[in-house]
Amino acid sequence: MSESKKLLRGRFRKDAARLVKQFTASVDYDRRLYRQDIAGSITHARMLAKQGIITDEEAETITTGLVAIREEIEHGLLEFDSELEDIHMNIEARLAGKIGDVAGKLHTARSRNDQVALDIRLYMKDAISSALHRLRELQTVLVDLAESNREVVMPGYTHLQRAQPVMFAHHLLAYFEMLERDIGRFLDCLKRTDVLPLGSGALAGVPYPVDRTFLAQELGFGHISQNSMDAVSDRDFVVEYQAVTCIVMMHLSRLAEELILWSSAEFAFVEMNDAYATGSSIMPQKKNPDVAELVRGKTGRVYGNLMGILTVMKGLPLTYNRDLQEDKEGFFDTVDTLAVVLDVFNGMLRTMRVFPDRAEQAAKESYALATDFADYLVRKGLPFRQAYTIVGGLVDHAMAEGLGLDEIDISTLRSFSPLFEEDIRRIDTMASVNARNCIGGTASEQVAAQLVRARDIIEGGYVD
Ligand code: ARG
Repeated sequence: MSESKKLLRGRFRKDAARLVKQFTASVDYDRRLYRQDIAGSITHARMLAKQGIITDEEAETITTGLVAIREEIEHGLLEFDSELEDIHMNIEARLAGKIGDVAGKLHTARSRNDQVALDIRLYMKDAISSALHRLRELQTVLVDLAESNREVVMPGYTHLQRAQPVMFAHHLLAYFEMLERDIGRFLDCLKRTDVLPLGSGALAGVPYPVDRTFLAQELGFGHISQNSMDAVSDRDFVVEYQAVTCIVMMHLSRLAEELILWSSAEFAFVEMNDAYATGSSIMPQKKNPDVAELVRGKTGRVYGNLMGILTVMKGLPLTYNRDLQEDKEGFFDTVDTLAVVLDVFNGMLRTMRVFPDRAEQAAKESYALATDFADYLVRKGLPFRQAYTIVGGLVDHAMAEGLGLDEIDISTLRSFSPLFEEDIRRIDTMASVNARNCIGGTASEQVAAQLVRARDIIEGGYVD
C-alpha cells in the first residue's frame, strides 16, 4: 500500500486500481479551496483546544503547520498528489509530514463531509461578494452612459419593429433594473449560503463537546445548520448560485444581442471601440462585435452548469454521496465565467461610441408617432378605437405617397378627420417622449428622476 494512501486506509488491504484513483481524484480542481480549507482547519483546531478536546500546544502546532502550508501553496511549493484524492487529504498529509502524529488530531470531531461543505460555503460567500461588486460596477457604467447621452432619442421596439420613440437613457436604465433584481437575488442566495455546516461530522453530528457558536463567529457565519444530515448533503446554495448567475447571463445576453444589432450597418446606433472588437481574417473592412457575441454564447455553458448540478442532486439519498463532488467544476466554471464576462462587458460599454443622429433619425423615419396622432384625436374627444382606425388609414396613405406623417398637409389630414388642426404640428419625437410623463415613463423628466434614483441605489450599498 502506498505511503500516501495510509491516511484513508481504514479496512482496506490494498490500494485502489490506478484508474479508480484517477477517476475519484478531485484535487486538480478542488485545490482552489485551499484557503478556505486551511481557514476552517485552523478555526476547528482552536475550537478543539478551547473545549479541552486537544491541548493548546497541539492546536498551536497544528495552526503553525497549516499557516506554513498555506505559504507553500501560495508560492507554488506544494506538489499536489492525486493519490491523495482531494485538497483536504493533500493538506492533511502535508501537515503530518511537517508536524508528525499530532496532525492526526485535527480531524477529531470532523469529517470531510462537513469540511467540504464548509469550504464551498466559504468560497461561495466570497464569490457572491465579488459578483455583487461587479454588478454594481456594470450598473454604474450603464448610468454613466445614460447620463452622457441624456438627450438621445431612439426608436423603442416591439417585435423588433419600430414602435414608439424612447430616450436612449430609458432603454439603458431598463438593464439597470434587471441588474438590481440580480443583486437582490444574490443577496437572498447569500442568506442561505451563510450557514455553518462544520460540527455535523460525517452525517449524525459529533460525540465531542464542540462549540459551533464559536466556529460560526470565528468563520463569519450568521447561522448554524440545524440538522446534521441536511448539512452534509445540502447543495441548494450551489444550485441557487448557478440559477442566479443564469438569470444574470440571460440579462447580459439580451443586452449583448441588442449591441450586436445596434452595431450593424442596418442600425448603426453604436460602434465598439477597436479594443473591444475583432477583425475578419478575410474581409478587411469587417469589425465584429465578438465580445458581445461571446457573452451571448457563454450564457449556454452557464445554463449547462445549472442543469448539471440539478441533475447531480436529483435522486440522491441522504446523506453524503460521492456524486456531490461533481458540484465543484461547474460551480468554479460559472464563477470564472461570470467574473470575466462582467469585466469585459464593463469595458466594452465604457468605450462604446453612440451615434445620436442615427438613433434619432431612425425614431423619426418610422411612423413611430402614429400612436401620438391617435392620442391627439382622443384628446379632441374621439374614442381611442376610432382614432386608431383613422390614423391607421393615414399611415397607409402616407406610406403609399412616400411621406412621413409630418409631411402630410393639413387639408389631407382633415379629410381623414376634421379634428386635425394646426397644433398637430407640435407632435414630434421629443413631444412624444415627453408626453409619457407617468412614473416609469420615458419622458425626460422621468428619466432624470430615474437617474437620480439609480445613483442613490448605487451609493446606498447593498440593501436586501
Ligand atoms: N472530495 C470530496 C467532495 O468533494 C470530499 C468529501 C469526501 N467525503 C467522502 N466521504 N468521500 O465531495
